[in-house]
Parts: sequence; structure tokens; C-alpha cells
Amino acid sequence: MKRVKIIGTGSYVPEKVLTNFDIEKIVDTSDEWIRTRTGMSERHIASDRDKASDLAIKAANRALKDSGIAPDEIDLILVATATPDMFFPSTACFVQSSIGAGRSASFDISAACSGYIYALSVAENYIKSDKYNTVLLIASEVFSKYIDWGDRNTCVLFGDGAAATILRGFKGSRMDGIISTHIYSDGRYANLLYLRGGGSSCPPTHESINHKLHFLKMKGNSLFKIAIKNMSEVAREALSSNGYKISDVDILIPHQANKRIIDAVAENLKIPQEKIFINIEKYGNTSAATIPLALDEALKEGRIKKGDLILMVAFGGGLTWGSALIRW
Ligand code: UT7
Repeated sequence: MKRVKIIGTGSYVPEKVLTNFDIEKIVDTSDEWIRTRTGMSERHIASDRDKASDLAIKAANRALKDSGIAPDEIDLILVATATPDMFFPSTACFVQSSIGAGRSASFDISAACSGYIYALSVAENYIKSDKYNTVLLIASEVFSKYIDWGDRNTCVLFGDGAAATILRGFKGSRMDGIISTHIYSDGRYANLLYLRGGGSSCPPTHESINHKLHFLKMKGNSLFKIAIKNMSEVAREALSSNGYKISDVDILIPHQANKRIIDAVAENLKIPQEKIFINIEKYGNTSAATIPLALDEALKEGRIKKGDLILMVAFGGGLTWGSALIRW
């Protein structure tokens, strides 16, 4: 049976670090509020020049090195991003030309913070159907460019970063590599998190700029409750549909939007803190990149060993959410 495994990972965050104390100088907030309400202490911010593709290319090159494969072995490049370089061409096309993956098809996936899990599901199914065998998946976000730095409700939350994963098909048993992915959406809640300006519902005008429509808008409080419910449910489904219990999980890698959301999900699932990988303190919410960034870091820190059961759960604008269960 054809299975799918991760054969390389890599990540990149911009050099510039913005601490909570730096943000105290920009808006009416405090390090104490940000830390206790979100778990964040600092985040990385892209330079004016850096585009989503610049971060993505650096992460991709690190994942290529980690996997030991050559760029021309890649059949498909997927970039999960809500902050692409342009409407078109896709950011994936810019990555393709830079890394020299001459044979690959390339496209972007838009599922906001759930983008990595969505793209993982797409990659898994392309590989299992035998259409492609080697997929480079990168989540890359530069939300700092779309944040209203005068809005304390959102500007403290987001950071920039990218992380890449290389996936490959192999013959194995049902319980090797990616065991399952589940993805969901509920567009009735689209108004809880969105960026309208520049899209066809709101082409750029002087008025759209004056009304700050080119910045991310979020109803954090409503999202908070739905995120806990949906992430808990999708985690339970990932396990029950494959005959596992929460005690079988070696490491939970949740989307890092708020430490309090992660704690509440952990409480619902009854999973001990030491089995959860959390790095929100250093990076903030890097949207689609949080999960692969955490995966890369967990691997480099030796937190994941061969045979471990990894559960990933994501949640984001759309609304979108999903899970991936992986036997390492
Ligand atoms: O990535 C995927 C999607 N994102 C999420 O799922 C994010 C989900 N939401 C959240 O993480 C939280 O709702 C936030 C961190 C955004 C906000 O935390 P909260 O505990 O829900 O705070 P709140 O919005 O209910 O605001 C509580 C108070 C308000 O003051 P009043 O009205 O009670 O006087 C806010 O004005 O905190 C105030 N506040 C702040 N104070 C200092 C909001 N932001 C700040 C701030 N600094 N940065």
C-alpha cells in the first residue's frame, strides 16, 4: 500500500525580533497583558524588502538539505499562505524558479492558519493516488505587513515566519507515515477573521486605504471559543477514526494562536502538558507556519523519535480547521 512520509523539514524566521516591551512603545498595552492573555513574549518581523517567497525559499532550501534530495526530484510545490507575494503568479511559482525545481507543478493554498494541514491533506492525496511522489510543502506568512499597528487587539498577536516539509511516497503498512488528515470549514463565520482590502469585493481605492480595509480584522473573543471546541473535536476524531486513544499520542503540535486556547484544548483532551509542543512565546502566531515551525523545532530539539505518534490540530480564518495524525 502506498504511504506518505516526511523526509525533510526546515524553517526560517526573519532576524528582527519585536518584544512585548517594544510593542508597549507603539500601542497602549503591556508585557504583562500580552504574556498572561496570549503566552507570547516576542515575535519575528520581516524587513520591508522581504516577501512571503523570500522566507519560503530559505525554509525550502533548509528542508531540501535536511532531506538530501535534489530540487529536480520535486513533483509538486504547495505554498500555504494568506499573505502571498501577489494575487498571481502564485508564491509557489516564485519558490520553484528560485530553488530550481524545474519539473514541478506549483500552486498556493489559501486556508489561513489551517493552511499547512490543508496542504498536507492535498499532498497526501496526490501522493496516495500516484499522481505525484515527492511534494515540497511550505507555509510562509508575513502578516506584519497587513497588521494595523495602531490596533492593540491584533498587533500584539502575529509574527512572521516560514517552514517547509518534504513529503514522499513509499510502500508501507496502514499505520506508517501520515495515518490520516481531516479538514473542515464553515464559511458562515467568515466575518470573524478576514482581510478584505484589495480583493474583488474591495479593490484598492483611496477610500479603502483611509478606512484601513487593507489590514487584518478579527473578532478574537468569538474565535477563541470556537477554536477550543473545534480543535478539541477534530483531535478526538483523528484518534477515534484510527483506533487510538489520547494516551497513545507522544506529541501534540497545536496551532499556536494563544497559549490559553492550547491549555483549554489540553484540558478537554486530558493530555499532559509535557506532551504538547509550544513555542508561541518566541514566535507569536505565524498563521499557517505555526505547526511546521513547531515540527521542525521539535525534531531539531530531539523531542520526536522514530515510531512516535504525532497529532497536529489547526484552526483559522474561513473558518477552517483540521488535523493530521502521523507515525514518525
Ligand atoms: O490564528 C487563528 C485565529 N486566531 C484566534 O483564534 C485568536 C483567538 N482569540 C484570542 O486569542 C483572544 O480572544 C485575544 C488574545 C485576541 C484577546 O484576548 P481576550 O481575553 O479574548 O480579550 P478581550 O478581547 O475580551 O479583551 C479584554 C480586554 C478589553 O478591555 P475591556 O473592554 O475589558 O476594558 C480589551 O480592550 O483587554 C483589552 N485588550 C488589551 N489590553 C491590553 C485587548 N487587547 C489588548 C492589549 N493590551 N493588546
